[in-house]
Amino acid sequence: MKNKKANSSTINLIGGISFFILIAFIMQMAILCYDYIRERTQNLSLIAILILIEIIILAAFCTFFDWIRRKIMVDKPTKKILQATEKIAEGDFSTRLEITHEYGKYNQYDLIMDNVNKMAIELQKNEVLKTDFISNVSHEIKTPLAVIQNYATLLQDETLDSETRKNYSKTLIAASKRITDLITNILKLNKLENQEIQEKHEVFNLTEALSNNVVEFETIIENKNLELNCDFDEVTIFSSKSLLEIVWNNLISNAIKFTPNGGKIDISLKRKDKNVEIKVADTGCGMTSETGAKIFEKFYQGDTSHSTQGNGLGLALVKKVIDILGGEIAVQSEINKGSTFTILLKNVVYERKI
Ligand SMILES: Nc1ncnc2c1ncn2[C@@H]1O[C@H](COP(=O)(O)OP(=O)(O)OP(=O)(O)O)[C@@H](O)[C@H]1O
Ligand SMILES: [Mg+2]
Repeated sequence: MKNKKANSSTINLIGGISFFILIAFIMQMAILCYDYIRERTQNLSLIAILILIEIIILAAFCTFFDWIRRKIMVDKPTKKILQATEKIAEGDFSTRLEITHEYGKYNQYDLIMDNVNKMAIELQKNEVLKTDFISNVSHEIKTPLAVIQNYATLLQDETLDSETRKNYSKTLIAASKRITDLITNILKLNKLENQEIQEKHEVFNLTEALSNNVVEFETIIENKNLELNCDFDEVTIFSSKSLLEIVWNNLISNAIKFTPNGGKIDISLKRKDKNVEIKVADTGCGMTSETGAKIFEKFYQGDTSHSTQGNGLGLALVKKVIDILGGEIAVQSEINKGSTFTILLKNVVYERKI
């Protein structure tokens, strides 16, 4: 970009010098004409008239020259830009402007055209994302809604015994919870993307916070008969407690969800100088490298049959939070062996100054 700017200021300089030379040329010609006429006549009014005519001719010549220059250098690209921006404003984001100069030899108009092209590309990308997003949300809502409709119809049968009724209403509650979770996650992600959620950094004991999060999953871990090992260093950090909660909740719930009964989950928290490394490892179903490359995308689920609960938004949220906090996230996984998610929080360790 710097290179491009330097080029456009060179063009400004050339324009300025040309204008200066033109004015100097007119004045020089006027002086020469004056001398030429003075040598031939002493009639002052004739001299004045001739000089006036000479100035008018020169001015007309310069105006014509400037008109041609403007036509080629200003009006033509301006018209091109205007037509393109009108098309973009009407919603045709496939519009692109053809830049005649080579990259590096751009003038101001080329720079504007380049920016208009970039804007159109971004708008086109956003349009695709928006359409994908709408179709994903509709798809995710459709399934639980169908369940709600079916079971609500079944519940209308007055001959049902109380046990069956109870089971049906449990299914109804689970399906409506899926929709609520989906909407909560969409709103959270939207707020994070629009930077509406304040980072609100505070000094807090990460060991304690992480332990409290793990405790919340105790019942599900017990129900699935999972072995849980926690190895936590004692660390106090300066970061966003609430945002990090989103990370722990999603990583731990994924580890539980994707690990079959009787499996093992290891969670570790290690201090590494001023950084902190958290690992959540499981002996679950694991994933292929193709799946691993896509898991941070919105609505992506490795199991397209949707047999496991969720909407594929958890890791998109995790990634967004880690990006906001300037950390790193990595995953190592092997099919049917398990997965390990590693989070690195940089420069967060808080040490009380004595
Ligand atoms: N621990 C894990 N083991 C195996 N696969 C995993 C693990 N964690 C995530 N994945 C894969 O990554 C996908 C995306 O995960 P993500 O947390 O974004 O969505 P989800 O858990 O399916 O749904 P949600 O988080 O919205 O409830 C999962 O569907 C799964 O295929
Ligand atoms: Mg998840």
